[in-house]
Amino acid sequence: MNRRDFIQQSLLASCGIAAGALALDSCSKPSSASPAPSAPTVNFTIDISTSQYNALQVNGNYLYANNVIIARDNSGNFVALYQVCTHAGCTVQFNGTNQFPCPCHGSVFSESGAVLNGPASSPLKKYNTQLTGTQLHVWG
Ligand code: FES
Repeated sequence: MNRRDFIQQSLLASCGIAAGALALDSCSKPSSASPAPSAPTVNFTIDISTSQYNALQVNGNYLYANNVIIARDNSGNFVALYQVCTHAGCTVQFNGTNQFPCPCHGSVFSESGAVLNGPASSPLKKYNTQLTGTQLHVWG
């Protein structure tokens, strides 16, 4: 093998390795999924007697505030979770009873933020809630 052949063989070999690495990389990630941003720390209070937030006076309703989905479940408990799905960043919803489905790819989260159904594999951050009169404090 002369020098020219050696260089050609080396280039072909390195291109094959690079192509293989790209193929493996693309196979290891779900299509169009990118990591969701990490959940922020929050500390805010909303007044559920105001028109902006009074949906929370009824069991089964929910709303969004400061990147948090706040739901009143079918038992009347307040649940606050980070609203950004851990799969690829879509905004989760509330099913009116006790689960938080993501409309994009079918993930479902429990009231604790745990994954009930993938493709998401990480839980949603859960925040604390405390109702005093009509003031709902959300923090964590
Ligand atoms: S973004 Fe894919 S399931 Fe939520």
